[in-house]
Amino acid sequence: MDEAKLHAFMGQLVTDMGGGAMWASVLIGDELGLYRAMADGEFVTAEELAQRTNCNRRLVLEWLCAQAAAGYVETAGGRFRLPEEQAMALANEHSPVYVAGGAQVLASLFLDKDKIVAAMRGDGALSWGDHHPCLFSGTERFFRPGYRAFLLTEWLPSLEGVVSKLESGATVADVGCGHGASTIVMAEGYPASRFFGFDYHAPSIEVARSRAAENGLADRITFETRTAKDYPALGYDLICFFDCLHDMGDPVGAARHAYDALAPDGTVLLVEPFAGDGLEDNLTPVGRMFYAASTFICTPSSLSQEVGLGLGAQAGEARLRDVFKEAGFTRFRRASETPFNLILEAKK
Ligand SMILES: C[S@@+](CC[C@H](N)C(=O)[O-])C[C@H]1O[C@@H](n2cnc3c(N)ncnc32)[C@H](O)[C@@H]1O
Repeated sequence: MDEAKLHAFMGQLVTDMGGGAMWASVLIGDELGLYRAMADGEFVTAEELAQRTNCNRRLVLEWLCAQAAAGYVETAGGRFRLPEEQAMALANEHSPVYVAGGAQVLASLFLDKDKIVAAMRGDGALSWGDHHPCLFSGTERFFRPGYRAFLLTEWLPSLEGVVSKLESGATVADVGCGHGASTIVMAEGYPASRFFGFDYHAPSIEVARSRAAENGLADRITFETRTAKDYPALGYDLICFFDCLHDMGDPVGAARHAYDALAPDGTVLLVEPFAGDGLEDNLTPVGRMFYAASTFICTPSSLSQEVGLGLGAQAGEARLRDVFKEAGFTRFRRASETPFNLILEAKK
């Protein structure tokens, strides 16, 4: 045994355990409005923060001490402040780097532990809809900042000839749309176009409909409970899959249906988690996060459906290209990327 390696590994585990505990702290800080109440960047005492948020002073102090130890807040003379950069990540839902919604996704991993233990001892299946509901709103809140930041400015412009169609009036399908965050961003950006959001999870479609109504977009977005293989083939100019193809049991069947449902010169926009093609490429901080979440969420979701291909959240471009080739598409390319996403374009 190499004692130095053991010490290094114990150091890593303590850091990771602290990270796990801190994300539970982020979860409550987000829910209780503690970060938002510190978003002005001014120093506060625990007493003042407790008053602002209507929380228990002693527990707020303990929470602040953990935040300070983690470097999430600064402390001096018994007071605490949330720096502007941390506020962007943890307090401001409109910032492009807001990640606090991810705490709800992580919470679902723990809350659904017994179901995953049963799936691992059985057929591996756990359907999207059988997770704790915090996964559904967590997914919306975690992904929406990226859609707001990149979809109109980078991802759609990276596709061949799509923006001009959207500007003059296109028909768009958002498949596996969840709560419709991406559909709403696109509908706001392109008022001449018509949007259809489909997801097989009926409660998510209910929420998506209410989001469309709240944003005054109900006349241009139709949300319907449909699988990726049975939505109406309207000859769409654009069919999008945002972070959902790998959750499907039959991605080839979904791509084949998209092929049939597209206009002759239509485009598929496929947004998937960033990944290289081999395991060695994905042994990274982002890769470990996606593989771990995929064990609980994405892979069991796929295994719960017909075919059960189980692509996983780290499928990579080459495997995704094979899916689209098998479905009949002749053109497939990486149009753009971010540290978290691959942006892929498929055409007939
Ligand atoms: C990770 S979520 C992404 C949701 C949404 N696209 C977003 O970016 O916020 C995956 C979604 O795929 C949906 N889904 C999984 N399999 C599906 C299928 N076969 N047909 C339609 N939707 C499916 C789930 O219900 C879930 O809403």
